[in-house]
Amino acid sequence: MSFPQHRPRRLRTTPAMRRLTAEYRLDPAELILPAFVREGITEPNPLTSMPGVVQHTMDSLKKAAAEAVELGVGGIMLFGIPAERDAVGSAGTDPNGILNRGIAAVREEVGDDLVIMSDVCLDEFTDHGHCGVLDENGVVDNDSTLEIYGRMAVEQARAGAHVLGPSGMMDGQIAVIRHALDTAGYQDVSLFAYAAKYASAFYGPFREAVDSQLKGDRRTYQMEAANRREALLEVELDLEEGADMVMVKPAMSYLDVLADVAAMSPVPVGAYQISGEYAMIEAAAANGWIDRRRAIEESVLGIKRAGANMILTYWATELAAWLKESK
Ligand code: PBG
Repeated sequence: MSFPQHRPRRLRTTPAMRRLTAEYRLDPAELILPAFVREGITEPNPLTSMPGVVQHTMDSLKKAAAEAVELGVGGIMLFGIPAERDAVGSAGTDPNGILNRGIAAVREEVGDDLVIMSDVCLDEFTDHGHCGVLDENGVVDNDSTLEIYGRMAVEQARAGAHVLGPSGMMDGQIAVIRHALDTAGYQDVSLFAYAAKYASAFYGPFREAVDSQLKGDRRTYQMEAANRREALLEVELDLEEGADMVMVKPAMSYLDVLADVAAMSPVPVGAYQISGEYAMIEAAAANGWIDRRRAIEESVLGIKRAGANMILTYWATELAAWLKESK
């Protein structure tokens, strides 16, 4: 008998063989493009820490959404940057607030051809940058924040969002938002719960993207990087409260958590490849240290392989174009 007896390399001999035997492949339909719309600007505003990503005007946002549809991207996740902020994030509940106007504009542009998602969280709208309102000691007040989330959610649904993404990590937020939506007649608006969301250094560039006013961190409400089992508790609670889909965030440093959640979740699982993950790869590629396209494809494929059914990535449109061209 010749040696070696087993030769796994046989299936790696040609591009056609590798393509045929691939266990996973990416599809534009599973990608979600996060997008920022900023009040009071007349030109898209490029972000230094996220080369290639901009704060959109209403016009450029609509174009980005149309382009995503063209390339078969599955969804868009909208974030708003208001001109004025206050302690309770009033611009978030204002029907004419920038995020709500952005949702309406995108809905008008693409209708039901793209799943329109929006961020239910106060951090973009508060002058202290926290995801909720503060109590007299400056601590984020869970229960008074919930009431605001409920109103915010109803306005986003009214504006035309198909899916809401509660990302504030307040206890009970899914139940309160579900109840608020149902009471207002929005039974068919879905909830994509940021179920296992960790306090992460990799959110850094997002703070520039939304012009965040935050000093300090979010460790009293977002999860500790040290915890794995706790993610399952967060997912179970969100499912019990009515989540239609659940998310793990960030993605690349939490692929074990993603795999755990994918193994137990009866609903679709998403993962968010966040701003810092984007920035790391762009920075290394800009220096010529890694091959940009291969690194992007490999990173997103890794997230899929770990178990994500849906992937939020700032490269969604570009990646969709590559996938189309390689068909
Ligand atoms: C909160 C929110 C954040 C992100 C998405 N939603 C910031 C945070 O929790 O600090 C981060 C996304 C990214 O880094 O790409 N509204």
